Parts: sequence; C-alpha cells; structure tokens
Amino acid sequence: MSYQPRILAFAGSTRKDSFNKKLVALAATGAREAGAVVTLINLHDYPMPLFDEDLEASEGKNEHALKFKQLLMESDGILISSPEYNGSISAVLKNAIDWATRADEGEAPGSLPAFRGKVVSLMSASPGGLGGLRGLVHVRAILGGLGCLMLPAQTAVSSAHDAFDELGNLKDEKRQQQVLYQGQELTNFVTRLNQQDS
Ligand code: FNR
Repeated sequence: MSYQPRILAFAGSTRKDSFNKKLVALAATGAREAGAVVTLINLHDYPMPLFDEDLEASEGKNEHALKFKQLLMESDGILISSPEYNGSISAVLKNAIDWATRADEGEAPGSLPAFRGKVVSLMSASPGGLGGLRGLVHVRAILGGLGCLMLPAQTAVSSAHDAFDELGNLKDEKRQQQVLYQGQELTNFVTRLNQQDS
C-alpha cells in the first residue's frame, strides 16, 4: 500500500462550542480527502496540570501529557487552530506544548522528538476583526523554535460567531476551500518529504 501521512489535528481551545475546533475539523477533512490518516483530538480530553518543574519531579508526567506527546511523536504533520488570547497563544495550548517538550527516559535532553521535523499548518478563528492573526505569529515562533517546519499558508477567520453554518462549514465558500486546501497542502507536503526520504 502507498504511503499515508499521519496527521494530528487539534484546536488550542477546550471550549465546548469552540470556533477553532470547528475550523481545525474542516482542515482535517481536507487532509483526509487528500489521503492522510488524521487523528482529530480535543484537548479537553487531555487535561494537564499547569506545568511546574517541582510537580514533574515529584509526580512525574501526567498521563494525558504523556499521551499527547505520544500522539505528536506518531505524527508526520500537525494541524492546529489556535485561539488568540490577549494577542497571543492560549494558555491551554502553550501548557500542552510545554509538557510535550520535556524529555522522557531514554531521550536525549533537547532532542524534542514530539516537534523536530514535524510539518505544521496553522489557522485561527476569532469573533474579532483580525481572526486571531496576532496570536498565530507567536504560535509560529514557538513551534518553529522547537524545530517544526512551519508551512507559510495560514487562515485567520474573523467574525467567527457568524462564519460557520449549522453543519460546521464556513459560509464563505472561498474561505471554506482555503481551509480544506490547508489540510490537503499539509498532506501533499508530508508525502513529498517522505518520498524523498525513501
Ligand atoms: C479572548 N478573545 C480574543 N480574541 C481576539 O481576537 N484577540 C484577543 O486578543 C483575544 N483575547 C482574549 C482573551 C481571553 C482571556 C479570552 C477568554 C478571549 C476572544 C476569543 O477570540 C474568543 O473567546 C474565541 O471564541 C476563543 O476561541 P474558541 O474557544 O471559540 O475556539
């Protein structure tokens, strides 16, 4: 069977009716249609305590943090829709990233197996006029600094409270296609990388 990229998709929000969850689900559909095996997760199902080095030293890694890191390590590509909180990354997303950067037994410190070489495609949604665009600058910098390959294309959906129909599709057809295409582009990019490897 031909190679199928493995893509992990999630939003940086745990809110029940999160616009970012809807958006990343769309991109995940685009990736599936392009042939990827997509795992779409909800960070609400992976509750992690606020990262604290003393807690890590006394209790080890929380089971959800371990599982989340494992999912990242098993993926070739990552789709993230990140809400913008006060012009930056949401705390829940930053906290999950921080836990996943911690080395486990047998891993060289700083080897960052959950991030290094992963291809990432970003998007955001916000009720505001900029669609969370300012937050993406920070998410891009953080993940780029961890060794992820950041795809240049991104989507920021403004007026998100009015942007989706009842099925979770974007009412603006051009935007809808743009987000589906991000999933497709990530899939195609990862596939090309893998073919060059083999
Ligand atoms: C926000 N929100 C927000 N929106 C924005 O466009 N720029 C911002 O800087 C902020 N800051 C901010 C801070 C905090 C603490 C909260 C709770 C919210 C609004 C935010 O975009 C809105 O709540 C989205 O609906 C959050 O994304 P989800 O949960 O719908 O995916």
